[in-house]
Formats: sequence, structure tokens, C-alpha cells
Amino acid sequence: MKVAGVAYRSVWREADRVAIIDQTRLPFEFHTLRLSNQDEIAHAIRSMQVRGAPLIGATAAYGVALAMSTNASDAGLQSAAKLLGGTRPTAVNLCWAIERMVRRLQAVAPAARAAAAWEEAEHIAEEDIAFNLAIGRHGLALLRNIADRKGTVNVLTHCNAGWLATVDVGTALAPIYLAHDSGIPVHVWVDETRPRNQGMLTAWELSRHGVPNTLIADNAGGHLMQHGEVDLVIVGADRVTATGDVCNKIGTYLKALAAKDCGVPFYAAVPSPTIDWNIHDGLHEIAIEERSADELLTMRTLDPANLITHGRIAPEGTSAANPAFDVTPARLVTAIITDHGIAPASREGLHDLFRRKVA
Ligand code: MRU
Repeated sequence: MKVAGVAYRSVWREADRVAIIDQTRLPFEFHTLRLSNQDEIAHAIRSMQVRGAPLIGATAAYGVALAMSTNASDAGLQSAAKLLGGTRPTAVNLCWAIERMVRRLQAVAPAARAAAAWEEAEHIAEEDIAFNLAIGRHGLALLRNIADRKGTVNVLTHCNAGWLATVDVGTALAPIYLAHDSGIPVHVWVDETRPRNQGMLTAWELSRHGVPNTLIADNAGGHLMQHGEVDLVIVGADRVTATGDVCNKIGTYLKALAAKDCGVPFYAAVPSPTIDWNIHDGLHEIAIEERSADELLTMRTLDPANLITHGRIAPEGTSAANPAFDVTPARLVTAIITDHGIAPASREGLHDLFRRKVA
């Protein structure tokens, strides 16, 4: 996607370094960073300089490539996998990407590992873009149907599942970008997504692409659905079970409940690596990341002098809990938009679409 006329991916190789967009400085400042080793990659993932399930996976793959450039021994590979795999627990794309790198690199001699690692990381990144374009094409049909019936399509989305959360294009936002680019009138209600406010990233990237959008408080979605202001909800996901439960940013579940009550279709847009075929019960089998209470107790703002400030919004000594994700049970999900097509959110639906045998 383009920023000020220049095309960017969210992660890319630059000679022997890995370049990223520092998302902790958005939407106020667009700033890129060059990372030189696996520790800097681990820090970028933990601190959410890069974030979003597919982007975390691709960045970790590049982190393995950096690690192989200094120590390509079996021990070096295992230690990079452990370090990077421990950065964030919920998005399955992280362990998916690392396992894929390890499998590929174990099959080549240490002397050839650095080159093979860079190549595999690049494949993972390119594949992510292809997955997202396919999700966009499948989701586009849903938006086109609504537009044919009633004109402007009002989509509600939660968190940021746009190009910033992936290598490019995005997952939940992919159908929206494709619809907008093909002349379908589309408007997006953007949940602010407290406490990290990923909604600001969504508003930023939609606006840069010229897609009409309106930022709303997290609590406003239900009201808008009750009043017919939302045609469909599309969210991303950090992990989807083999039975169609959707784990995504905290607050997603409440949107799905409201959507069900109001008869608004609720979709999750998901690249195939986000489906965890090994788990069947999202509520009990997915580790939900608990992040620092500071994320809730403080807020970043831009002061009148255009300086980013970080201020407390809760009284000193307030205790806070900050679970970062929740699970929406499959029964609340209308369907899952994947790179393979659109599947009912169920064991049978997903297995049929991916031509897998039901275990
Ligand atoms: O904590 P984050 O910002 O990494 O969480 C991101 C989300 O929950 C996204 O909605 C999800 O990863 C899908 S991104 C394509």
C-alpha cells in the first residue's frame, strides 16, 4: 500500500537487515526501523512495533534469517526458534512461521542455511500477500451483493486487520479495499479498540487509501447495529480453531453478540495459516495474552505542539486487568472468509473447503 505516494510492505528485507514500520508511532508519525538481529526482532514483536497475526509470523521468519546469518548451527536454529516463538502467545501464525522455517532449515546444511532462510522468509511474506488478495476477492462478492441491493455498504470492523497487520493488503480490510477500488460505495465504522487503540491504525490506513470511515467508541457498535447502520461486520483473527471458533482482539466477542441479536452477518477474514487444525475448543485451548496494565492506565496523545505525550488516565494505584484477546464461538460467526473461499464456521464447513478429513 502507498504512504505519501510510496509503495510499502509492512516488513521487508534491506540487504542484511530487516525493515519495519514502527507501529507504536502511528498514527502520529510514520517512521521506519532497520533491525539487525534476532533480539531486535523479538523486541519489535513484544513491544508491538510490529503487530497483527500474519505480520508477526512473517517478521519472526525474517528474524530466523537474521539469526542464521550469525549462527546457523542446530543450536543457533533452536535458540532463535525459542526466543522468537516466546514473544507473543495467541497468534498461531507466529509458531506456524517458525515451525516452517525450522523444517526448511533442518533439511539443509548449516553453511547453506542463511541463504535458505532469507529465501523462505521472503516466500512466507509473498504468500501472505497472495492469501490476502484471495480473501479480498472472495469477500468482495459479499459486499457487491449488498451494494446491488441498497447502495453504500456499511461495514463495522474491530482492531486493525488491514495492511499494517499483514505484509500487505490486510485480511478483514482486503474485501473493503477491493470493493472501493472497483467502485463499490463502502463506508467503514472503525472501533477504536481500547486499550491499544488499533482502530487509529485502521482509520489511518483506510483514509490514506481514500476509503470513507468513521471512528467510533468500542461501545457504539451495538447501538449502530440496532439502528440498521451496519450491513455486516468483518474482523480478522489471531487463531481459528478447526471447529470455527474465532480468537481475535478483545471486544470482538461483544460485537458478535450484538450482531447476532440484530441479525447482522458477522464474518472473520482469515488466511489459511491462521487456522489451527490441532485445536477444537477455542475457549479452553487458546492461550489468551495478558498484557501490561499500563496499556489501560495510560494513553498516548499528540499535544498542541505536535509532540507525542504519554499520560496517565486512571488514578494512581488503580489496579487493572488487560486480557488482549477473546474467543467468539463458531455459533456466532456467520462464515469465515479464507483464501480458499468462504466456509461456514464449523468443523464440517472448514474441512470441506480445505478438503481435509474430519478427525
Ligand atoms: O494485538 P495485536 O494488535 O497484534 O492484535 C491484532 C488483532 O487482533 C488482529 O485483528 C488480528 O491479528 C488479525 S490481523 C490480520
